[in-house]
Amino acid sequence: MTPRDFTTPYRRLESWVYDTVLAPATAALADTLGREWLDRVPRGGAHCDVGGGGGQLVISLARRRPDLRVTRLDRSPEQIARARRRAGVRVELVVGSALALPFRRRDVRSSRKRRLDQALARPAAGLSECVRVLAPGGHLLVAEADRGCHLDDAERFVARTRLPRAARALVLPGFRTWVAGRGIDLDDARALVATLPASDATVMRAPGAPALVIEARRP
Ligand SMILES: C[S@@+](CC[C@H](N)C(=O)[O-])C[C@H]1O[C@@H](n2cnc3c(N)ncnc32)[C@H](O)[C@@H]1O
Repeated sequence: MTPRDFTTPYRRLESWVYDTVLAPATAALADTLGREWLDRVPRGGAHCDVGGGGGQLVISLARRRPDLRVTRLDRSPEQIARARRRAGVRVELVVGSALALPFRRRDVRSSRKRRLDQALARPAAGLSECVRVLAPGGHLLVAEADRGCHLDDAERFVARTRLPRAARALVLPGFRTWVAGRGIDLDDARALVATLPASDATVMRAPGAPALVIEARRP
């Protein structure tokens, strides 16, 4: 069997499953990361959320920071349609690829990219593209599944999904193999940031979550 192409945009069913079952778990992590990080984004700046699923996080961010110009980009028209139905606040919604962001150089004061997996074939290219559109001093934040995650953190993540309780123990090995297992480890993350035209790069494990966090700044 040919493995599923990870760069295929989410279709209707996948969008629904992701949005309904999994997004509550990723949103909890993203919310924690976003709260601290948002303080570093200057007033009146522009923020772009790349590959942001159904838009839950970017919408809550736009509510918290009405001074920001917020854009949400995703390759899947289905995911963008979900974000549009949910929005109700001023968020620019764009169908486009992380590998060719439709922004001028230095347009964006901060960008956040969650899950590199769909761009795994070219993760360095995807991240360089995010840095390219940052204004000088602009911030990059990336969260990606941690291939070396602790079992406790994977369990906690699965428990936050909307999966029926009885299914969680069955899903856990699948999560570790097919989601975390296709993520990156700390060495991969360090090698990735070394390729970026960015400064002040840091790589760390997200506390209590099966995710790695990369932060960097455009010089
Ligand atoms: C696993 S979901 C993650 C959603 C969200 N970031 C979260 O943490 O809940 C991955 C999202 O990235 C989008 N995506 C995949 N490849 C992409 C690419 N090359 N450019 C932009 N978006 C992409 C998919 O359509 C999907 O909505």
